Amino acid sequence: MPERWTPDSWRGKPIVQVPEYPDAAKLAETEARLASFPPLVFAGEARNLKRSLARVAAGEAFLLQGGDCAESFEDHSANSIRDFFRLFLQMAVVLTFAGASPVVKVGRIAGQFAKPRSSNTEKRGGVELPSYRGDVVNGAEFTAAARIPDPQRLIEAYHQSAATLNLLRAFAHGGYASLGRVHQWMLGFVKDARQLERYRDLADRISETLAFMQACGLDLESHPELRGTDVYTSHEALLLGFEQAMTRQDSTTGDWYCTSGHMIWIGDRTRQPDHAHVEYFRGVKNPIGLKCGPSLKADELIRLTDILNPENEPGRLTLINRFGADKVGDHLPALVRAVKREGRAVVWSCDPMHGNTITAESGYKTRPFDRILQEVKTFFSVHASEGTHAGGVHLEMTGKDVTECTGGARAITDEDLNDRYHTLCDPRLNAEQAIELAFLLAERLKVERAAKATPLQAAAGL
Ligand code: TRP
Ligand code: MN
Repeated sequence: MPERWTPDSWRGKPIVQVPEYPDAAKLAETEARLASFPPLVFAGEARNLKRSLARVAAGEAFLLQGGDCAESFEDHSANSIRDFFRLFLQMAVVLTFAGASPVVKVGRIAGQFAKPRSSNTEKRGGVELPSYRGDVVNGAEFTAAARIPDPQRLIEAYHQSAATLNLLRAFAHGGYASLGRVHQWMLGFVKDARQLERYRDLADRISETLAFMQACGLDLESHPELRGTDVYTSHEALLLGFEQAMTRQDSTTGDWYCTSGHMIWIGDRTRQPDHAHVEYFRGVKNPIGLKCGPSLKADELIRLTDILNPENEPGRLTLINRFGADKVGDHLPALVRAVKREGRAVVWSCDPMHGNTITAESGYKTRPFDRILQEVKTFFSVHASEGTHAGGVHLEMTGKDVTECTGGARAITDEDLNDRYHTLCDPRLNAEQAIELAFLLAERLKVERAAKATPLQAAAGL
């Protein structure tokens, strides 16, 4: 019999990755204020996302999750949100059209502010300060003042998330995301001719298809599914005080939801079954993610699925694998087999970013694009041989013209990293790299579908 859950029952459990606030009273006061604010997302939306993810779990759709490693207070402009959004739409449309698969779109956005750190302190030139833990906690600047956790930042993160979400909703349903605008999403700085041509070719085919349907008498304007799309939000729910303040009871069902984002995930560093994060997550009904790194054993994973999804509800749990290109082949099959043997309904998603981070000779933290592609390819082949669905990807990417990951169509080198290395935290894919990856994913999705088709369907090319 599980113990009783309440939004604050996590407070009685061991916890790691917590900032040390100098003024506990101020923190409590701020959290209470936050708890009086309106929710950012609604229970019904989280349920819709869960339903869509259930289709992914059943092998009928693909999850595209991506965005910044960490959002920042300083860089909060309509342009950067729009540039991310259009890149995300481009990837989604490539997957939907070239991969012939419905795509569930979930941004790492509108709340992705808290970062786990490998060390509590950072040393530079003999000075030791508390580590930067994301803009919701402290400042990135290397000064003693900036690094003191400040509760006021919770309020700022809330307001920034609300503004970002507002714009995303407007873009998604206000006309910008209409399939009639598929050509206009191309980002100006995508210069690589092959990516440009490939995308333009695909956009031409979509426009042609729409024109054909219109000529057949179909009134495109009367089909909201062509004019807009659902884009959901997600973040790592690391800062539990913030999440508890945003936890609300749904009046129609009596269930508890985390209303700071549609989907939340547990990091690889905070997934101890008897600790605070797992305790918090088990009680909210949102769709949730669990990051699975090389140290996760199959029996522990099954134990976690028991705690986090006791009713084995499809769409509730997404397992986000982040092993590294060199490890995924060794680790993933055992987990897939255990989950299959125990009959658990999950979404398998590949995070090819976090297991492939290296420090370049230049001193920059980077991720070779080759390794990212390799992890994705191995992820697909493992699922092909186990007979399971390669359900999705989880990416760190940006619509800005950055040089943070090496390789890709423009062959970014170690020396180029210095050009435009803007990330506050981990290196992200730029637009060209993201589109290249989308085309690779589309190819693999097609192969997966062909393998599942009946001989008759295969003959008809369906
Ligand atoms: N509504 C559909 C979907 O989300 C089709 C669609 C409209 C779409 N705009 C889009 C697909 C933009 C991808 C990108 O799948
Ligand atoms: Mn990251």
